[in-house]
Amino acid sequence: MQQVKAVVARAEGAPVEVVTINVPDPGPGEAVVKIQACGVCHTDLHYRQGGINDEFPFLLGHEASGVVEAVGEGVTDVAPGDFVVLNWRAVCGECRACKRGELQYCFNTHNAKQKMTLEDGTELSPALGIGAFAEKTLVAAGQCTKVDPAARPAAVGLLGCGVMAGIGAAINTGAVTRGKSVAVIGCGGVGVAAIAGSALAGASPIIAVDIDAQKLEAAKKLGATHTIDSSTEDVVARVKEICGEVYDGAEGADVVIEAVGRPETWEQAFYARDLAGTVVLVGVPTPDMKVPQLPLIDVFGRGGALKSSWYGDCLPTRDFPMLVDLYQQGRLDLDAFVTEEIGIDDVEAAFEKMHHGNVLRSVVVL
Ligand code: APR
Ligand code: ZN
Ligand code: ZN
Repeated sequence: MQQVKAVVARAEGAPVEVVTINVPDPGPGEAVVKIQACGVCHTDLHYRQGGINDEFPFLLGHEASGVVEAVGEGVTDVAPGDFVVLNWRAVCGECRACKRGELQYCFNTHNAKQKMTLEDGTELSPALGIGAFAEKTLVAAGQCTKVDPAARPAAVGLLGCGVMAGIGAAINTGAVTRGKSVAVIGCGGVGVAAIAGSALAGASPIIAVDIDAQKLEAAKKLGATHTIDSSTEDVVARVKEICGEVYDGAEGADVVIEAVGRPETWEQAFYARDLAGTVVLVGVPTPDMKVPQLPLIDVFGRGGALKSSWYGDCLPTRDFPMLVDLYQQGRLDLDAFVTEEIGIDDVEAAFEKMHHGNVLRSVVVL
């Protein structure tokens, strides 16, 4: 066991605190990772506000990279000294999804079995089974994906959550390729990642939609060819117009990605889609939201697919090393997502800044 500094949310809505925690030595199948960088995600704030569950105290942080310090019995995929990006999809290899070869849908992902605790022994709930606003954390070895050690920790750690969700929503779930048109509604961290992923796949046009002009500027830097300010413009009409100029007769975009998580924007996505097109819902709705009342004939008549994307349908062992390599080659600008590097004491201030239009990600660097 060892003691390290970490960011903990003790009670609903209370500001987070930097405290000393106990990190057990890794048991069978586990690893201790020395954290180098961890992005501040909305989900961390949701935990702090009691919006995920009430298993306080939470050890926050989950978009992270670091170096494996020690591994437990039976761990062969990673070794001390490996540079890794942490993931929350450590696949089991045995559930019905894994057995049919669809590991990206694993229904039985796992985390470390042992618990990290406060100094008084109170068990911590690590955010998404990771808990990486900490000098060191204990995870399941399968949550560690080895990537190019020359890569910048603050940038590649972001693949651990929001950026992967966005890129994967486009490439994995939406099957965006060359020759397809894409519209992305909501250009926060997830939405602009979907734009970057679409650009990487060679899609055109790539239309960014947001109500905030600053977000649309960020979207352009990451590959949007067109922007729509939906606070003043009609999204469905504009998407149809832009795609119709490129593809004769197009009634919308081939793939529309909803990265807000609201019924109104999902409905816009539904109607901004070309015939036989795909809607991808990657924004996370709240439990009270309902599917908009749509004529069933519109669902039938437009054909195509209405999909949801959890974690960008990613398979970390397949996607993380590939995306880090593309970053290293200058083909995927992960640096653009890092608005600022902050210290472990600055997480609460970073939560405040989330509401400002000019912050994609604050990243804690240790
Ligand atoms: N139309 C278009 N854009 C909107 C609308 C709207 N009606 N309402 C909000 N937005 C924009 C915001 O201006 C912001 O740019 O959606 C974006 C949301 O971005 P963030 O709040 O930064 O969230 P992000 O981290 O990108 O996550 C997006 O995915 O992971 C989930 O919980 C997360 O539901 C959230 C979504
Ligand atoms: Zn499985
Ligand atoms: Zn996250």
